[in-house]
Amino acid sequence: MAMIRRYHVIAAVALVAAATLMTFTAYRYVTRGTYASLGDALVGGPFTLTDQTGKTVTNADFKGRYMLVYFGYTFCPDVCPTELQVMSAALDKLGAAGSKIVPIFITIDPARDTPKVMAQYVANFNPRFVGLTGTAQQIAAVAKAYRVYYAKAKGWEKAGDSYLMDHSSIIYLMGPDGKFLKHFTYTTDASGLADKLKAAVGA
Ligand code: NI
Repeated sequence: MAMIRRYHVIAAVALVAAATLMTFTAYRYVTRGTYASLGDALVGGPFTLTDQTGKTVTNADFKGRYMLVYFGYTFCPDVCPTELQVMSAALDKLGAAGSKIVPIFITIDPARDTPKVMAQYVANFNPRFVGLTGTAQQIAAVAKAYRVYYAKAKGWEKAGDSYLMDHSSIIYLMGPDGKFLKHFTYTTDASGLADKLKAAVGA
């Protein structure tokens, strides 16, 4: 009996060890290998939207230039203004190299962010900014392409025109071919972003 029990314990320990090793190996494979490159390749893609002058624009209009893309909304009380300020300051720091990069702000709140609202808003940050809005369907499509999450914040669903939005906050750098190159999070400040952009696009 004792022998059998001990055998069971040893077998169970061996099983747990094997499962842990397999999980660890799979995790390493997923995080460092296939998934990381696959995930990157799947960010971005074609879009049709409306700029702050009311003109229809597509991804093809930015071909040959780098796009620095951020999704947010003009009523955002804190995160969006901070990130747009960081993008603006980083591009100013880059000087001439900055002209290769188009900073693009795409709203995830098209119901309130009309072209006119976007025009006034982006002008506050940098005249280089392109502000893009669209129909609810167009915005849903581009957000999906960039893996951006957004939703009306809890408790504001029926609040009429005053509500907050939850949304992911990531800055994407897309290459002159429109393909994903890098992303930056809120931990990147203006000089950090300028350095990383300089390394990515060349002086
Ligand atoms: Ni925001």
